[in-house]
Amino acid sequence: MINVIGLGYIGLPTALMLASHGVEVVGTDYNKKLVETLNAGKTTFQEEGLDDLFAEAVKSGIRFTTEYQSTDTYIISVPTPYDKFSKKVDTEFVISAVKSVLEKCLPGSIIVIESTISPGTMDKYIKTTVEEAGLKVGDDVHLVHAPERIMSGHMLNELLHNNRTIGAYSNVIGEKIKELYMNFCDGEIVVTDIKTAEMTKVVENTYRAVNIAFANELAKICRHDGMDVYEIIRICNMHPRVNILQPGPGVGGHCISVDPWFLVGDYPSLAKVIDESMRTNDGMPDFVLNRIYEIMKEKGMTDVSRVGLYGLTYKENVDDIRESPTLQLLESQQRHLATGLKVYDPYIKDNVVENQLHSLDEFLDSIDMIVIMVKHDEIKENAKKLADKTVLDCHNFLQIPGAYHI
Ligand SMILES: NC(=O)c1ccc[n+]([C@@H]2O[C@H](COP(=O)([O-])OP(=O)(O)OC[C@H]3O[C@@H](n4cnc5c(N)ncnc54)[C@H](O)[C@@H]3O)[C@@H](O)[C@H]2O)c1
Repeated sequence: MINVIGLGYIGLPTALMLASHGVEVVGTDYNKKLVETLNAGKTTFQEEGLDDLFAEAVKSGIRFTTEYQSTDTYIISVPTPYDKFSKKVDTEFVISAVKSVLEKCLPGSIIVIESTISPGTMDKYIKTTVEEAGLKVGDDVHLVHAPERIMSGHMLNELLHNNRTIGAYSNVIGEKIKELYMNFCDGEIVVTDIKTAEMTKVVENTYRAVNIAFANELAKICRHDGMDVYEIIRICNMHPRVNILQPGPGVGGHCISVDPWFLVGDYPSLAKVIDESMRTNDGMPDFVLNRIYEIMKEKGMTDVSRVGLYGLTYKENVDDIRESPTLQLLESQQRHLATGLKVYDPYIKDNVVENQLHSLDEFLDSIDMIVIMVKHDEIKENAKKLADKTVLDCHNFLQIPGAYHI
């Protein structure tokens, strides 16, 4: 039996996928309300195909509880934020989960850490935690790192087909866990050492962050000197060996806006490009805020409550708002002791910020200027409704004549 610890965006689909492929699974989360929701037959976030997979897994016997189970295999997928001051990975949740597992696990158990961790975390913190409990790694307990690559909006498809990395101290144990994932995953699964697995996951997200930062920096340079960044990128990308990404209003979510900081925190004198890139991306919501004021001035607008931010999530067509550029922009506005921007997102039904509206028409009726922060399909489908609005399209995706850009 596999005990999956942490039933959030990663743990829940992984547990469901294993269960629906014939593996006996118990899902554990210390959030009582979340477990009650799952036990009431409801999923906890929106994701294409998740409800069907959930029904299949329940039929196959998956159980959800707040209790850790006594078994021989655990998958831990709890949060790993970064410390805002040191920038290092915050291992508090992982260590706490490992300690709880150690109280219950059977001799020779395998503990798989799916949470993203920086290189050396397993050696420095998790192995040490096991040893402090009087247990021997590689004998009483085996440790494995199996980082996850899936992306909101495509999770189930990516779980089935993405290539994966397994890091282990012992090749035999690594191969055993590879077989576990092969129950549902038809991608290539590489078995390597733990530090390599830790580093690859962080590097993958860092690669993406640096490339996004490059596009964002180009947008700033072009804005400063009156050049069209989109046309420039389009032409550059006609070069056979150039592939520049598109600029945007910032980066959110729990991967690209977080993991690269681990390298800055651990290697501050070496990770210079990464540090600058993260600052560039983190500076984009402020850049958008400045653009809003510039455009308002140009248009003779004075009432900020007639300006609306479209989208609260960190990416299009999902309901995940963690670290989203819109939240960063609103925080920045509050730091300047200002409020008033209207906000609307079709995926966010609860009130999470001030001045949030819950229908597109009501939102559009209350504003003269719309700032497209997120590329939800909904706004593309309703682009005609923006005919009388001033539009700041931060992704250049609506192709509305006369629209402003970042
Ligand atoms: N969300 C993504 O797209 C994504 C992609 C790849 C990797 N990751 C990584 O996967 C890990 C999990 O991320 P997530 O997005 O699923 O987080 P999440 O916040 O959605 O879920 C984590 C869950 O763990 C539970 N939890 C925390 N500590 C616990 C404990 N000690 N015992 C039991 N339950 C506990 C929380 O209640 C929560 O439900 C992180 O390291 C993240 O960086 C996330």
